[in-house]
Amino acid sequence: MTRHLLDIGRLDQADIATLLGRAAELAAGASCSTRAGIVANLFLEPSTRTRVSFQIAARRLGLDVVNIEQQHSSASKGESLADTARTLAAMGVGAIVLRHPEDFAAAELASALGGADVGIVNAGDGQHAHPSQALLDAATLAHAGFELAGLTLAIVGDIRHSRVARSDIALLSRLGAAEIRIAGPEEFMPDAGELSEAIRMPDIDTALDGVDAVICLRIQRERMAASGYLDGAAFHQRWGLTVERLGAMPGHARFLHPGPVNRGVEIADALVDSPRALILEQVRIGVHLRTALFEWLIDAA
Ligand code: CP
Repeated sequence: MTRHLLDIGRLDQADIATLLGRAAELAAGASCSTRAGIVANLFLEPSTRTRVSFQIAARRLGLDVVNIEQQHSSASKGESLADTARTLAAMGVGAIVLRHPEDFAAAELASALGGADVGIVNAGDGQHAHPSQALLDAATLAHAGFELAGLTLAIVGDIRHSRVARSDIALLSRLGAAEIRIAGPEEFMPDAGELSEAIRMPDIDTALDGVDAVICLRIQRERMAASGYLDGAAFHQRWGLTVERLGAMPGHARFLHPGPVNRGVEIADALVDSPRALILEQVRIGVHLRTALFEWLIDAA
């Protein structure tokens, strides 16, 4: 059976446990045996950490990797996504890691390919989902010593345009988080009724009160036509993680950011490299999580 990773909702609880458990083993130094196959990284939107970590994970397993980017591919000449994928499959590609600007692009591609033996991995589609980021965020929190069941977490910033927030909330609520709070400028909050598993907070200080961890989010200007909130300094003052705000959080609390970080906007410049930051740990664990993901994908085939 061909497996896909399309969004958190389509993973069953056993798959989530397998992926997080294996990522934890790999992060603790477990070795992995090699597999055969070709993976295509099809990135139709910019990326540093997701694209490179999928590439490193694939190479670690002995897989061949091809990297395809929008400007160097025939997508720029009008080829449909499904035809690009069929072309790759005809060359023996067994898995496509897709980043795409449109919501649901990964699921639509998986269904357009029907019974073709190609696993689709959603590496971020529009503002819909970024499931491997959510899995690596959960793995990072667990590796840092947090019990995910019972966790109190805040997500602050541009929630509305964030596929990371949607996937994190979907995953961490399934894993038993006690409370997930969201806060941000009114224009960056989701529509009423969306993300109902999360509690809306009126300001960042209330959101951070007593939390175990906070995930700070970038203003995703690429997903909005225009925004009144373009002043980074004003955003930082009202919604940023400052030295004072971190100081008011519990001593054990940590902060995360999916990256890329705009220093001095979402997080004070001086804090980004602090020992309470898990930002580079997310990147490190991300390689292990994506290695586990390829094993899961290939071993089912
Ligand atoms: N977190 C994340 O998706 O980062 P990139 O856009 O650099 O891949």
